[in-house]
Amino acid sequence: MSLLEVSGISKSFSTGRDFLGRRSGWTHAVQDVSFTLDTGECLAVVGESGAGKSTVGRIVLRLIEPDSGHITFDGNDVRAAGSAQLRAMRRRMQMIFQDPHGSLDPRMSVFDAVAEPLIVHTDLDRTARADKVGQLLDKVGIGRRYLTRYPGELSGGQLQRVAIARSLTLEPKLIVCDEPVAALDVSVRSQVLNLLCDLQEELGLAYLFVCHDLALIEVIADRVLVMAGGKVVESGTVESIYRDPQQEYTRKLMAAIPVPIPRGARR
Ligand SMILES: Nc1ncnc2c1ncn2[C@@H]1O[C@H](COP(=O)(O)OP(=O)(O)OP(=O)(O)O)[C@@H](O)[C@H]1O
Ligand SMILES: [Mg+2]
Repeated sequence: MSLLEVSGISKSFSTGRDFLGRRSGWTHAVQDVSFTLDTGECLAVVGESGAGKSTVGRIVLRLIEPDSGHITFDGNDVRAAGSAQLRAMRRRMQMIFQDPHGSLDPRMSVFDAVAEPLIVHTDLDRTARADKVGQLLDKVGIGRRYLTRYPGELSGGQLQRVAIARSLTLEPKLIVCDEPVAALDVSVRSQVLNLLCDLQEELGLAYLFVCHDLALIEVIADRVLVMAGGKVVESGTVESIYRDPQQEYTRKLMAAIPVPIPRGARR
């Protein structure tokens, strides 16, 4: 059994209403998408804007209810989970967003942002919490002198590191990364990507890695799911997709790669 098993999920959003206020149109954001993800594995979800990538990630975490389909995480039925079960499950699956400015509260210090999940979900005392926060910040390469700083005082790359530390507090098994480096300066993208790679190895994390840039995923992903118009149009190992893309759409995505980062250039 895989850590995450997604089968046949679909989701439509109503778009627009007619003059009587009735729903008049539907966007089929995700249509019959299935995949599995093993412990310690990284599955990249790639595709053009509007392909349905983020919606898939949000459905997995049950931030959005799908119209149909099944999801099991660690053997538990995600869609059938009651609130207590969902709360327990959410400790084990976390999300990192594209924009760290948006995902961190500007009024919370770095320390508080990372400590908050520990306060909410654990009964660690103050000293143990401070220890844990310090360790996590070391892990993501943020010096302890930043503990008392606020998001407004940090760079995008530093903020994303803090967001990553926060996502690790409850020792998740799965992290849904929604374009985690897209908003960062090109110069720090590969640093943050390498950090995610290292953490994955060290902690045995599984990533569902949403990304529109095929060049980035070669470094991090094991397998790829190519989405277009809400559907999976191609899937396979990174090597096979790179070597021999089957779909015209995938070839176009590949052609859009400006400068591929070769695997050996990780360090
Ligand atoms: N809450 C919503 N209400 C209405 N339509 C939505 C909503 N969320 C997503 N959509 C639509 O569903 C489709 C898929 O959106 P989604 O955000 O999953 O795409 P994406 O692949 O993540 O795109 P991007 O690369 O731009 O982030 C789009 O057509 C989008 O407009
Ligand atoms: Mg998106």
